[in-house]
Amino acid sequence: MEAKEFDRILEEECQRAEKVIRSCLPEEKGRQRRLTEAMNYSLTAGGKRLRPILMAKTCRMCGGAEPEILGGFMAAMEMIHTYSLVHDDLPAMDNDCYRRGKRTTWYVYGEAMGILAGDGLLNCAFETALKAVGHWMERQDISESEKLLLTDRAWRALSVLAEKAGAWGMIGGQAVDVMAASGADAEEDWAEELLFIHEHKTAALIQASMMAGAILAGADNEQIEKIEKCARNIGIAFQIQDDILDVIGDSDELGKATGGDALNHKRTYVTWKGLEGAKADVEKLSREAADILDEFQGEHEFLKELILHLIYRRK
Ligand code: IPE
Ligand code: IPE
Ligand code: MG
Ligand code: MG
Ligand code: MG
Repeated sequence: MEAKEFDRILEEECQRAEKVIRSCLPEEKGRQRRLTEAMNYSLTAGGKRLRPILMAKTCRMCGGAEPEILGGFMAAMEMIHTYSLVHDDLPAMDNDCYRRGKRTTWYVYGEAMGILAGDGLLNCAFETALKAVGHWMERQDISESEKLLLTDRAWRALSVLAEKAGAWGMIGGQAVDVMAASGADAEEDWAEELLFIHEHKTAALIQASMMAGAILAGADNEQIEKIEKCARNIGIAFQIQDDILDVIGDSDELGKATGGDALNHKRTYVTWKGLEGAKADVEKLSREAADILDEFQGEHEFLKELILHLIYRRK
């Protein structure tokens, strides 16, 4: 695929994700107006929208047509991801003041509202996905058997979202990240621990995005397992690159501060393997992921290009 064509599709997909997200924002009204403002503040601040794009493109690869409820799940995924960032930036966690090119949510709205905005976004994610399923169920022009098929897929996709975002996924990874930074654990093999952190705090939500896309498309178990493996690689590579950019990235381009990992005494992939070793592993993991995608018959040219493109991302 030519670079120009890739850029065009990426821009188009990003705009589509943006539109879907904006159509699902909580209304800023009532006594809880300030809360919903805080929820929307970071959600509308931009971001690469990588997870909803991965979801849509995996859905496409696994089934061709995209089901109507996909939009609700794309928005839900971005809400969960955004909540994880809002909480990650809190003073009790990474204590960051910039995110997505703006002051962080807690910095603008205060710590308490930062916590609540994150909580609100997490709930809103499930409200949004469930609402999309509900709308679809109410339609008169769809047969009962088709509805049964889709509700089965929807609850499986929702289960994956819930599990990968929780204690066995992202939150679990964040917890071990925090414990490792405080030196609270006596983990000896910290290379293994670091992989656990990357796999859980970051890869889990990438897995959720791609697996939900596959499930909604009607992929079989074997395909879903392949996607889970592929997304694990993509996610770990993504976090390694994030660690690299924290050292050599440009904060204006990234929209967030650099150097925070060292300041917070974080063990990162760069402290483990050095810059060159880390870069080599990003490439290796990404190429392995691209090879797994090639085992799929469905259209995946852009998806594969995107995975390879992420190896060299600067933001
Ligand atoms: C940042 O994710 C947090 C990590 C998991 C490394 P992104 O780099 O996808 O952040 P946005 O969504 O583009 O802001
Ligand atoms: C965060 O990892 C992963 C999340 C689950 C939010 P980082 O703490 O390295 O992410 P950034 O660098 O703040 O975006
Ligand atoms: Mg963090
Ligand atoms: Mg952070
Ligand atoms: Mg980071």
